Amino acid sequence: MPGWELFDENEKRQIDEVMETGVIMRYGFDGARKGRWKARELEQAVRSYTGASYVLMAADGTAALTTALAALGVGAGDEVIIQPFTFVATFESIMAAGAIPVFAEVDDTLCLSPESVLEAITPRTKAVMPVHMCGAASRLDDLLAICKERNLYLVEDACQAFGATYKGRAVGTIGDAGCYSFDFNKIVTCGEGGAVVTNSREVYERADMYHDHGHDHTKSDRGAEGHPFCGYNYRISELHAAIGLAQMAKLETFIARQRTNKRAFKEALSSIPDIKFRTLADPDGDSATFLSFFLPDEDSARRTTLALKEAGTEGVFHWYGNNWHYIRNWDHFKERRFAHPISSDILNGMQDYTKRVFKSDELISRTVSITIKMGWSGEEAAEKAEAAARAVKKGLAESHRR
Ligand SMILES: Cc1ncc(COP(=O)(O)O)c(C=O)c1O
Repeated sequence: MPGWELFDENEKRQIDEVMETGVIMRYGFDGARKGRWKARELEQAVRSYTGASYVLMAADGTAALTTALAALGVGAGDEVIIQPFTFVATFESIMAAGAIPVFAEVDDTLCLSPESVLEAITPRTKAVMPVHMCGAASRLDDLLAICKERNLYLVEDACQAFGATYKGRAVGTIGDAGCYSFDFNKIVTCGEGGAVVTNSREVYERADMYHDHGHDHTKSDRGAEGHPFCGYNYRISELHAAIGLAQMAKLETFIARQRTNKRAFKEALSSIPDIKFRTLADPDGDSATFLSFFLPDEDSARRTTLALKEAGTEGVFHWYGNNWHYIRNWDHFKERRFAHPISSDILNGMQDYTKRVFKSDELISRTVSITIKMGWSGEEAAEKAEAAARAVKKGLAESHRR
């Protein structure tokens, strides 16, 4: 990760094909576009790769999540259960849909704990939105069983896990809807981009209209199209889709390289007794974008992160101290600082997160993740893995001496 590590002539060629026609809008301009429909082709490529019945490309992953919720009819007064370890976009998308984010906890899969979901359900709960963090699946069987029993929607935030599978099926395709991100730093990048996937024709059609101002997409003349309901503009452009097409053709290679490089890191670190690796709900389906592990406590995690950075390891995260991926530092959200007045439904419905103590603190405070690059050769990965192992030992030794 990310896909731009292996940009080559194919991305340029795809962009040139769009520029030759001058049509950068995904709809209309049928005559001028010379049969080139990049967004449509990308939807087809994602459909064949994931096996989803329907795919809708969107402007980005956040827009895709908001669109999926709206398409399912999740909105004012509804609660959506999520995890406190995720990127801020997860709660943003729920609030953009007008619904209330409710935080449960994560377990040692680093994803939503099904047990904590059971505790968070209220009569207002409408959906559960697990996040397949750091490239690997949540405990989807357990979450699906809860949703079926309680009549809740399961919406998969698979924005960090395109290419990952769960028991042989692509993550994102297992719930009522799933969303991917193809932003600048994802395993497949469009620059900015996202997708909603679903196996329901109705959800797809509603998402399709919602993400394009309500256009029903029934005519080639956009001005003559109907608008069954109001929507927004969350469309992807042909230029972004073109980059994604070139990237999709290389996805198998991306994953294979990440898996090989991750294996090198895991082997190098596995002899260190104080390390426990993240539990993977399905180890065979890991997209291998990160190697995550738990250390004995917060101090050892902090010192180890520092030692890794000093040793030149790129993309090292101690999420507990990071401002964007764990609720502990989301003071803007907890203190309710919004750019404009927001719905009283959301304000009154939200817990006071300045007071809540999360059980997830114990785990996230001692979690460290290392980004696995697809661009490393096998030799480079082995060298970097050895250096990382030495750094982890140094960090742990410093912490023991404390
Ligand atoms: C878990 C998660 N959800 C949603 C998003 C939003 O995706 P985008 O950046 O494409 O809007 C991200 C982006 O990193 C993410 O990590």
